[in-house]
Amino acid sequence: MTDLATLESAVLAQISAAADLPALDAVRVATIGKKGSVSELMSKLGSLPADERKAFGQTVNALKTRVSSLLDARKAELETAALSQRLATERADITLPVRVGPEAAGRIHPVSQVLDEVIEIFASLGFAVAEGPDIESDDNNFTKLNVPADHPARQEHDTFYFQPKADGARPLLRTHTSPVQIRTMLAQKPPIRIIAPGRVYRCDSDQTHTPMFHQIEGLVIDESTHMGHLKWTLEAFAKAFFEVDEVKMRFRASHFPFTEPSMEVDIGAEAIGKPGQWLEILGCGMVHPNVLRNCGLEPERYQGFAFGVGLDRLAMLKYGIPDLRQFFAADVRWLSHYGFPVLDVPTLGGGISS
Ligand code: PHE
Repeated sequence: MTDLATLESAVLAQISAAADLPALDAVRVATIGKKGSVSELMSKLGSLPADERKAFGQTVNALKTRVSSLLDARKAELETAALSQRLATERADITLPVRVGPEAAGRIHPVSQVLDEVIEIFASLGFAVAEGPDIESDDNNFTKLNVPADHPARQEHDTFYFQPKADGARPLLRTHTSPVQIRTMLAQKPPIRIIAPGRVYRCDSDQTHTPMFHQIEGLVIDESTHMGHLKWTLEAFAKAFFEVDEVKMRFRASHFPFTEPSMEVDIGAEAIGKPGQWLEILGCGMVHPNVLRNCGLEPERYQGFAFGVGLDRLAMLKYGIPDLRQFFAADVRWLSHYGFPVLDVPTLGGGISS
């Protein structure tokens, strides 16, 4: 019985000394495990006199039960301590910003961004968006636009032609978005108020020219639209696009076969931080009576204006991008520098460019 008391106090000391769950489990195995010190006591039962066996058996069982419940209590204590420790070290700060994933690292190309900006501005002025194909007929790209077969403007456009078809017609890659004027006037009656963004092609390549680039055509036709409307519209556009209250504009007399009179428009470059310089941004004019007639509209009744803006040019000016060729080099470093966050959609209400 003294042995039992000594054993019990030794076991109790081991249980409370166990510093973690593995140590406690070792104590369990060493005491009430199959070959543990408490379990082994039972094997002594056979060597005891018969009248002592019952009492001894009961005492050992009681001891086993006490040890077992002490082990359980200590285990619960250690588990709680381990959990508190984990909670303290693994605390998540849910106020931290979300880690940026690959989808947020994607960028919108400056041309797409500027296209969205321009569409947003003209949509707010009541323009609809029209489209035409990149592969055009000679007729839509030139003839109906009052550029007859022998006109020198055809050479100036450095046109990419396809092989002539059986009927002799030569399809081409459109050299400007102006054929969309023709398609629109053939398809719908005035009043017409559209812009037509898209790719255009000319056989030309240097720092400011690439064989493919982007334009936005504008066309307004009704019975009373005049040059004052043209000027106001372009001024309203330039202010909204360059995000300035005042913009200096210069209308220079020019020549396009499909407009009369024709003008090229420069903006005072102080709008983009280059005072004293002028930058050409577009060509425009009043739609030529021959063009209206070619589309079945009587020039005595209808009139209006058209303009064509270089979209890539606008992007270079507004965002200070020096080399046009980089636009189409598919260099991810360039895109992550000059590109725009995916969710930064231009709106007049939220801000055109920010
Ligand atoms: N199509 C002309 C060009 O590409 C631009 C323009 C469009 C001029 C509409 C006048 C009217 O240069």
